[in-house]
Amino acid sequence: MSHSEKSDTLVFFVNGRKVIEKNADPEVNLLFYLRKKLRLTGTKYGCGGGGCGACTVMISRYDSSSKKIRHYSVTACLIPICSLFGAAVTTVEGIGSTKTRIHPVQERIAKGHGTQCGFCTPGMVMSIYTLLRNHLQPSTEQLIETLGGNLCRCTGYRPIIESGKSFSTESSCCQMKGSGKCCLDQEENESEDESDVCTKLYKEEEFLPLDPTQELIFPPELMRMAEEPVQKTLVFQGERVTWISPATLTDLLELKLQYPKAPLVMGNTFVGLDMKFKGVYHPVIISPSRILELQVVMIDANKGLTIGAGCSLAQVKEILTEMILEFPVEKTQTYQALLKQLRTLAGQQIRNMASLGGHIISRMARSDLNPVLCVGNCILNLASKEGIQQIPLNDHFLAGSPDANLTSEQVLVSVFIPLSRKWEFVSAFRQAQRQQNSLAIVNSGMRVHFKDGTNIIMDLNISYGGVGSATVSANKSCQQLIGRAWNEELLDEACRQVLDEVTIPGSASGGMVEYRRTLMISFFFKFYLEVLQKLNIRDHRYPDIPKKFQSVLEDFPLTIPHGTQTYECIDFHQPLQDPVGRPIMHQSGIKHATGEAMFCDDMPAIDEELFLAVVTSTRPHAKIISIDVSEALALPGVIDIITSQDVPAENGDEEERLYAQDEVICVGQIVCTVAADTCLHAKQAAKKVNIVYEDVEPVILTIKDAIKHKSFIGSEKKLEQGDIKEAFQTVDQIIEGEVHMGGQEHFYMETQSVLVIPKAEDKEMEIYVSSQDAALVQEKVASALGISKNRIMCHMRRAGGAFGGKLTKPALLGAVAAVAANKTGRPIRFILERGDDMLITGGRHPLLAKYRIGFMNNGKIKAADIEYYINGGCTPDESEMVIEYALLKLENAYKIPNLRIQGRACKTNLPSNTAFRGFGFPQGCFVTECWITTVAAKCNLSPEKVRELNMYRTVDRTIHKQEFDPKNLIRCWDECMEKSSYYSRKEAIELFNQQNYWKKRGIAIIPMKFSVGYPKTYFHQAAALVHIYTDGSVLITHGGTELGQGLNTKMIQVASHELKIPMSDVYLSEMNTTTVPNTVGTAGSIGADVNGKAVQIACQTLMKRLEPIISKNPNGTWKEWANEAFIQSISLSATGYFRGYQTSMDWVKGEGDVYPYFVYGAACSEVEVDCLTGAHKNIRTDIVMDACFSINPAIDIGQIEGAFTQGVGLYTMEELKYSPGGVLYTRGPDEYKIPSVTDISEELNVSLLTSTKNPIAIYSSKGLGESGMFLGSSVFFAIADAVTAARKERGLTQAFMMSSPATPELIRMICLDKFTDLIPREDPISYKPWSIPVA
Ligand SMILES: Cc1cc2nc3c(=O)[nH]c(=O)nc-3n(C[C@H](O)[C@H](O)[C@H](O)COP(=O)(O)OP(=O)(O)OC[C@H]3O[C@@H](n4cnc5c(N)ncnc54)[C@H](O)[C@@H]3O)c2cc1C
Ligand code: FES
Ligand code: FES
Repeated sequence: MSHSEKSDTLVFFVNGRKVIEKNADPEVNLLFYLRKKLRLTGTKYGCGGGGCGACTVMISRYDSSSKKIRHYSVTACLIPICSLFGAAVTTVEGIGSTKTRIHPVQERIAKGHGTQCGFCTPGMVMSIYTLLRNHLQPSTEQLIETLGGNLCRCTGYRPIIESGKSFSTESSCCQMKGSGKCCLDQEENESEDESDVCTKLYKEEEFLPLDPTQELIFPPELMRMAEEPVQKTLVFQGERVTWISPATLTDLLELKLQYPKAPLVMGNTFVGLDMKFKGVYHPVIISPSRILELQVVMIDANKGLTIGAGCSLAQVKEILTEMILEFPVEKTQTYQALLKQLRTLAGQQIRNMASLGGHIISRMARSDLNPVLCVGNCILNLASKEGIQQIPLNDHFLAGSPDANLTSEQVLVSVFIPLSRKWEFVSAFRQAQRQQNSLAIVNSGMRVHFKDGTNIIMDLNISYGGVGSATVSANKSCQQLIGRAWNEELLDEACRQVLDEVTIPGSASGGMVEYRRTLMISFFFKFYLEVLQKLNIRDHRYPDIPKKFQSVLEDFPLTIPHGTQTYECIDFHQPLQDPVGRPIMHQSGIKHATGEAMFCDDMPAIDEELFLAVVTSTRPHAKIISIDVSEALALPGVIDIITSQDVPAENGDEEERLYAQDEVICVGQIVCTVAADTCLHAKQAAKKVNIVYEDVEPVILTIKDAIKHKSFIGSEKKLEQGDIKEAFQTVDQIIEGEVHMGGQEHFYMETQSVLVIPKAEDKEMEIYVSSQDAALVQEKVASALGISKNRIMCHMRRAGGAFGGKLTKPALLGAVAAVAANKTGRPIRFILERGDDMLITGGRHPLLAKYRIGFMNNGKIKAADIEYYINGGCTPDESEMVIEYALLKLENAYKIPNLRIQGRACKTNLPSNTAFRGFGFPQGCFVTECWITTVAAKCNLSPEKVRELNMYRTVDRTIHKQEFDPKNLIRCWDECMEKSSYYSRKEAIELFNQQNYWKKRGIAIIPMKFSVGYPKTYFHQAAALVHIYTDGSVLITHGGTELGQGLNTKMIQVASHELKIPMSDVYLSEMNTTTVPNTVGTAGSIGADVNGKAVQIACQTLMKRLEPIISKNPNGTWKEWANEAFIQSISLSATGYFRGYQTSMDWVKGEGDVYPYFVYGAACSEVEVDCLTGAHKNIRTDIVMDACFSINPAIDIGQIEGAFTQGVGLYTMEELKYSPGGVLYTRGPDEYKIPSVTDISEELNVSLLTSTKNPIAIYSSKGLGESGMFLGSSVFFAIADAVTAARKERGLTQAFMMSSPATPELIRMICLDKFTDLIPREDPISYKPWSIPVA
């Protein structure tokens, strides 16, 4: 009997259409089903683990008892289709499309410039849409909560938030700082028309109103189904797994008896991850979602609240909110503590899916709720065939002790959470790498019960998450403190006892051992203060806490960001139709928002196509002894396994192999690939390939190892000016030190993707790839297959973000796939899983710098001797260029008369690092700003004074002897100073710092001189092909790639301007290697510059040809002229070719006009730091950028904001972690944190310098793709400023150096105090650490 014969039919609705699935497979998730089965590809795959929100859809269910429809957002990647019985699913395609009607949410996010690459956009749209289905006019707080589970790597979130805010009734005022006015004020708008500064990037008046009557109705059939629910147990039988959904509790208990090992799947956010990422296999899954008893909510006004185990965490949050409103504050202590955790636990989608029961039973070590439930004396109500039982939710239960646990037949029905008593206080704490949507590093629940009317402890409970393999309670310590008064002595003793009782070994998984221990007692200190404060409120006999301490009890709020964007208005006389200089929406904006924009993996299935999965090395350096593929080959659906032996021609080169050959040189290197009929089959088989290795010495992982072994890539690079030897002899002071800076993962939302289609004739191959350099893909494929390039056609329509990560790697991956296509003779779809992508493809180079600086007591720097080392990983890739750029750009805005810089790229056994936005600049100049800050500290001067003192002031030459004029650098600096009201805020910050002990504010202003482009002329060449058709429509192609940066939009603007036709007449479909050959990668911030010139030249050629026709018939139409040209046999097709800017670098002489021009800027940031936890809040950033004449201010400001946010991630949050064996741990959004919506500055103001020109570039514009990244360091230095204030107050006056990123761990551990002093330091050589620093 086939599995379908035993199966029930699954019925649900998608976008108003009924889906009847007779073969529902429990292993298939909704994301896969939508994309592959229903061909609804608007919903995207970004991580597959619920962590990015790219796959957000709305689920609606009818509740027959309340007669209400519940709409909630979910991540489709974690929803098994079998759980959808009776549900209505709405995807981005269901709410609007260009073919029907665009939904206001889609329209506003597109027109508000909330899309760049557009890969996150459908998820963002669906999150906002779901919010609006529940709240027509949501509050800004609701909006922030809603978007917390959606990541965007491009925009910096500001425009997305603004689009959402436009639906809110609350003011969307920009709060133009200082002026006390609002950009929405009539007066302000009027003045804008007259001045040459514009503040609007889109017209809100154009937005469609939200009309709820236009929404899809809930399917009446589903209402009927809910009113008359199926009473039988539903069974869905898949290929390997059976899903059983009982209708009653009795049936459920019976099933539990029958299948004691089967998990009960509610939200699937725990079980689903185990199955997907840990390969856990459950032959039977029981779904209790239809059991009404699991949904109960009962309130006993005297005792407390009973919540059904099946209630989602979002529902729990709602219930608790109501309880808090209804009951007096003293009774709801536990509820308030739980609510506090629920506000930041995961993202909205996960809170909507995850159940209370699932959360408790999964007993995660970092569960946010269990520590609070544990101290809150909660009771678990269990049921089994044997009857009902109650067990306490205590530390024994959480530790999984057999005598305090559920038996395999028991089910958790509900949880009783008692009301608190009058002299009882409960608090919760958590600290994570990121404020929202990030598992806690450490969390805690704490409760104290005093003898009535006293401060004498009757009962005390402290429970921690994140400090062991389960939630851990400090019971012994608490017992010993009973009977004590709540005072400072108790505090000291409690800290010591807790540290004694709850230990974390040095080698503990997760690392951060000292930090975690510090957090344990820092939280207790917060609890101590909170309770003191509450005791004082209850009874004034008890002293209040010192005023200076009060602010630390307030967590940083989840605030809604706001800000202004200003740019130079275009000339009043410019024709309306001419789009150059206007903030035009991204060409694909609307399609991004409707999900119609096609990315590589959105392409329909191709006949006979196979899926490729990788088998990667598990050793950092080893010989391959054997590869046994027999077990894998025998699995269902497996077609072939491809190794280096199958490469017909070049298997890459000596330095970088496509498939590992004889040896592996890093963990994550591709050894072989499996081609199978489905993605799942390919992945399952990949796990069964058995490789035997023999380890080879040495294994080099860190920069220090590489220096020791003299393991380098390329030669040493050196630049020198002045006479440093002599200069060091004349200076007042000399400092020496090291700066360490970690790497960065690109985290483009669309993982590396390629589709290779072998053609039947002449070995042709068609390749669709997400790449910045299609020609390089073509080249690598041709060389691997041993065929000429003219048979390989590469297409690149758009990439879902790239940031340098899709410059070289797609060529390698494309060739790997092409070899598979060649061997099997079938199309190959090769889409990297997020984990594989992060493991294999490398990222930004970690850097170690050693410096020696000589300076005068007035802050003037006379001499600097600097060495740079970057961790290049195992192959050369772009490492040599990155170190060159770091050296060439290192001086940033400063004139250092005697300067020597040396740099080397280290070869290690880590995955090869590669290009990343800024290309060495964000690392190189960071080091410079570090030692400038130290010089300032040594001279007792403020850093901005030392910056100003050493800045270039007049026309001068860089270290590589290129002449430049720093006028605009100074302008940016001065304007930034002024716009940010730097000095008055600095004073206010000083006052704040005097008044607050545990919270400190800091401010920093950073200048920037960034050089665009390359030191080689031919890297700047570009070509375009422009056709005019006889109907007047124009088709353009060029050699650049659209990565989200709006390149195609700008190119259409250029063509429209040159041909003097509306943008709507110009079309740009894709770039491909057949229309524009021999292209260079789109990078270095010059994509629009050079391709724009090429398009311009092609258009000008065409206009020249049309000129006689136009002058003969000046009143004719464009179409008539085109037609006439055709009749006169005038070619309507032209190529445009730009040879490139003249640049060069002579490393022997150490000089060259390396870059075509410089972009200047300055950023001022202010932060607030919580010295007890290491958390920080970005309060405000002001950026002034020298964009000259912006071709498209919306796009350029978008690039600045997006890059800045990525920079904030680089310098303050994103941390790659490697094991001592070279394994990358951080392989998904769960462990690697990029900024989310709550991490951007509460106020972000961007202004483009006015009245400046850059005659060398098209329309006098400047390329702005990368530079904003470095300005993110202003947040780092503001943190350093706040930390300095904290240290000073604690008597630590010595200069200190923070490495990057300034994570909560780093901040906390550098704000030394009596708590950090209490932490015992283990001798580092006594244990093997969990992770090692590689910089
Ligand atoms: C992206 C992401 C982010 C997250 N962030 C956080 C965070 O910040 N903080 C945090 O604390 N947690 C976080 N989590 C974890 C999340 O809270 C848990 O995964 C979730 O609460 C589990 O609930 P579930 O309903 O999905 O469980 P399921 O996966 O459905 O089940 C989990 C387990 O519970 C058992 N079970 C379920 N219901 C019952 C029952 N009624 N009786 C007996 N056994 C039962 C199942 O057998 C299974 O073993 C995150 C998870 C994800 C995916
Ligand atoms: S793909 Fe589903 S959350 Fe990332
Ligand atoms: S636009 Fe958000 S990820 Fe690219």
